[in-house]
Amino acid sequence: MKYKKYFRKTSLKQKNIGNLFLNIIKQKNPKSFLEIGVFHGVTARNVCELMFKNHGDNFNYIGIDIFDESNNYKNEVVPSKTFNNPIKTFYFKYIKKQNPYSLIAVEDLLSKFKKNIKLIEGDTNKIFHNIDLKNIDFIFIDGGHDYKTVKNDLEQSYKIINKTGTILCDDWNLSQALGVREAIIDFSRERNVNYEIVHERFAQFNLS
Ligand SMILES: C[S@@+](CC[C@H](N)C(=O)[O-])C[C@H]1O[C@@H](n2cnc3c(N)ncnc32)[C@H](O)[C@@H]1O
Repeated sequence: MKYKKYFRKTSLKQKNIGNLFLNIIKQKNPKSFLEIGVFHGVTARNVCELMFKNHGDNFNYIGIDIFDESNNYKNEVVPSKTFNNPIKTFYFKYIKKQNPYSLIAVEDLLSKFKKNIKLIEGDTNKIFHNIDLKNIDFIFIDGGHDYKTVKNDLEQSYKIINKTGTILCDDWNLSQALGVREAIIDFSRERNVNYEIVHERFAQFNLS
């Protein structure tokens, strides 16, 4: 399966990185996937397509995002929400009449999998510990990029994930967000769990 962009923005935009990401998911073959940091929902849709291909209707996807346009989260290194391509701006403003960075628009993109998905709007620093997330076997951490947020996302993920599951952290090598790398190193040392760096970009914790 090839990673598709669905006319939206995604952090897995560089040539081939989306395909490499899907290959990791394919190898692990999860049935219950949690993504922290949904953004326009492009990765969500790709992951749902892959799980549908592998498990039919027997899968679930949960996504969490702040969906917040204010300046309150500038420490989190949130990607730019504007399109460089004016056709995309036109398409969302006048045809879809949607903000692609919103729970409603992501729900729309995932409408094919309505029964299998759950989207949650909120800051993981505030809500993660309250959410009931049973039987999750793969967590993709790609939300806030501040040290404190990534550390919390890792700690909470470690508590809820099925102990044979996988936690994959994006942006190990992102120079604008060194807190990501620091949080991964500290979490690994404090919890005594190993990780490997995959395609120079992802930190993968295999818990089994
Ligand atoms: C890099 S983008 C995610 C990209 C997406 N995973 C993809 O593959 O296209 C990071 C997302 O994390 C969200 N975010 C930032 N801080 C957050 C927080 N504290 N809690 C939840 N989501 C957060 C942002 O709103 C943004 O949509």
